[in-house]
Amino acid sequence: MTILAGVIGDPISHSRSPRLHGHWLRRYGIDGAYVPLHIRPDDLAEALKLLPRMGFVGANVTIPHKEDVFHLADERTARAEAVEAANTLVFKDGRIIADNTDGLGFLASLQQGAPGWSPSEPAFVLGAGGAARGVIAALLDSGVPRVTLANRTKARADGLGALFGSTVSTVEWAKIHEKLGGHGLLVNTTSLGMTGGAPLDLALENLASGTVVTDIVYTPLQTPLLKSAAARGNPTVDGLGMLLHQAVPGFTAWFGVEPVVDEALRQAVLS
Ligand code: ATR
Repeated sequence: MTILAGVIGDPISHSRSPRLHGHWLRRYGIDGAYVPLHIRPDDLAEALKLLPRMGFVGANVTIPHKEDVFHLADERTARAEAVEAANTLVFKDGRIIADNTDGLGFLASLQQGAPGWSPSEPAFVLGAGGAARGVIAALLDSGVPRVTLANRTKARADGLGALFGSTVSTVEWAKIHEKLGGHGLLVNTTSLGMTGGAPLDLALENLASGTVVTDIVYTPLQTPLLKSAAARGNPTVDGLGMLLHQAVPGFTAWFGVEPVVDEALRQAVLS
């Protein structure tokens, strides 16, 4: 029987996940379908009850449902608990299991895109939203000793930093460029740099030449931040890899094959 999975969001038409999973389904010759599911907040609880009964084995979850599905699920993985949000659901034996693979996707993308990166040095994280929370949890989990955090709204950075204790320290948004030295990694988790929006206007002269620079924005692939980092010779990793790698655990759980993230997948998602 055809295995069914999908992505739940509102709006949903922008999601690249159907293309991503569709590529893998074709590549591995699996009798499965992965569809966009436009579900409004008021319908979320009912949809989560009905989808397993309709034969779905699971779903990805995107804006604005990531926190709500975490609370509605029957079980939560430790990495979902760490960020109190879920992006991957598995429907099993009448139960809904909520997972969060964003942090894993971020790290896998970093390791693939910057094989020379080592978690032994502190990291600098820009932004203090949901994405930042997942990135910081993953970095500390992988052995990064310290994180410096800056956010336009400083109180939000202080609040997020407090969740992680003394390993995360915060700096003023206006002082970022002064504090860039001494970090092995710079991560932008804000929406700055997205096509049609304001760029992240940051002077990089205090950044060490080996510091890896990465962005979770992937439209465009080469954000102004990544362009200026690459121009001065820093290794850079674009944001598309995180989207591709976060999808691996869901596909594996639903369709029974652990898929690879390679250039063909990147091209399929970009086309
Ligand atoms: P997500 O969950 O995807 O991280 P979010 O919670 O809306 O999304 O967070 C967006 C991030 O981008 C925040 O860190 C936000 O800063 P504020 O907390 O001060 O709002 C940041 N951001 C958005 N627009 C910005 C801008 N023009 N300048 C600086 N930071 C900006």
